[in-house]
Amino acid sequence: MTTPSDGLGAGSPAPVLDRAACVRLDDADPLRSLRDEFLLPPGTIYLDGNSLGARPTGAAERAQEVIAEEWGTGLIRSWNDAGWFDLPAKLGEKVAGIVGGGAGTTVVTDTTSINLFKVASAACRIQAADAPERSVILTQRENFPSDIYMLEGLVEQLGDGYEVRLVDDAEVAAGFPNALTDEVAVVVLTHVNYRTGRLFDMAETTAAIHAGGALAIWDLCHSAGALEVDLAGAGADMAVGCTYKFLNGGPGSPAFVWVSEALQTRFSQPLSGWWGHRQPFEMEPSYTPADGIRRYLTGTQGILSMSVAEVGLDVFGRVDMADVRAKSLALSDLFIELVDARLSHHPVEVVTPREHAARGSQVSITHPEGFAVMSALITRGIIGDYREPEVLRFGLTPLYVGYADVWDTVEALREILDDRLWDVPQHKVRGAVT
Ligand SMILES: Cc1ncc(COP(=O)(O)O)c(C=O)c1O
Repeated sequence: MTTPSDGLGAGSPAPVLDRAACVRLDDADPLRSLRDEFLLPPGTIYLDGNSLGARPTGAAERAQEVIAEEWGTGLIRSWNDAGWFDLPAKLGEKVAGIVGGGAGTTVVTDTTSINLFKVASAACRIQAADAPERSVILTQRENFPSDIYMLEGLVEQLGDGYEVRLVDDAEVAAGFPNALTDEVAVVVLTHVNYRTGRLFDMAETTAAIHAGGALAIWDLCHSAGALEVDLAGAGADMAVGCTYKFLNGGPGSPAFVWVSEALQTRFSQPLSGWWGHRQPFEMEPSYTPADGIRRYLTGTQGILSMSVAEVGLDVFGRVDMADVRAKSLALSDLFIELVDARLSHHPVEVVTPREHAARGSQVSITHPEGFAVMSALITRGIIGDYREPEVLRFGLTPLYVGYADVWDTVEALREILDDRLWDVPQHKVRGAVT
């Protein structure tokens, strides 16, 4: 297949590729029909699926079914009759299929932050038994802040000299030449950096962590559904991630937690609520954890949200992740090459790695007036987002983003920058969420 790179010399002033060529790439795209599985407002180019995925076509119907029939008519009987009680494990199996987890390893529940607390705590307890001299949790300085905050909360609870230590992405990518000392118990890494889109090699990095005597926990928020992940193949120990980004589960949809078979039952997690109990309806006065991954559940689940999340997950049953990854890279190659070719007369810098092996499914660029530029773009119906400092993020969800969308986005950026359309008061007002 012709790739979007063809004919686009790096740094050439005008790309040979034009919009018509992008439309031809869309026509030849094997994933094109999936676009119809999502509902987007007419005239919208949606490049924020790395923050909140688009709405799957069947989501409203499923929500209506749960509200009217399962809840409205079935009432409490639906915990059994409609399979509500089993949804965390049922959806967990579907997520496991997408991230290479294997059967019986994953449940969908709670939030990524809460699930990280559970697994990091369990990992520290395992290490306290196996290597009691180790009391450092290592994580990326550039990690999503909530991950760092949760680990800080955990070490405060653990006491006993536990500490969170931060490392730079470069140290991680180099296989920890300095930071992985014999004090480190657990390493928590986000697979794709939320701001830059940098991807870390899970298998190599996990091997380095194990060689250093630590356990490896991965945060897959920006990789689940965006690229091929093989948790079991990489030998990872534990993982968490959300379903509302590339998995299109809906706003605030529940997260997932994966624990390798070998470690699942070594300890119970600290949020030992009745849903993780071996026999929750025996109402025993003391906690006994469930035998497998169910012990990572805590309390009653948001059934509406969980039911809608399943609609997003089911799209992946019809998709080969290799095709998703190939298109994602083709889209980001095109985006980067067009930025190089069309925007180089502006103070714009691509901060997403150019090597495929180090790139997730987004392109991030910086501009000193990034917030206002993104605001101007959104006014035109092209939706990305902004993260401090100066970063404009463009999520490329191959299921519903096309090559012509990328072309149109870079053209709109060029007009906004050339004509300083961002430089008006309306584009400098910030809401609570950027
Ligand atoms: C990498 C990463 N980790 C953790 C989180 C926090 O997720 P939650 O709000 O579901 O706890 C996010 C949220 O965007 C994220 O991007």
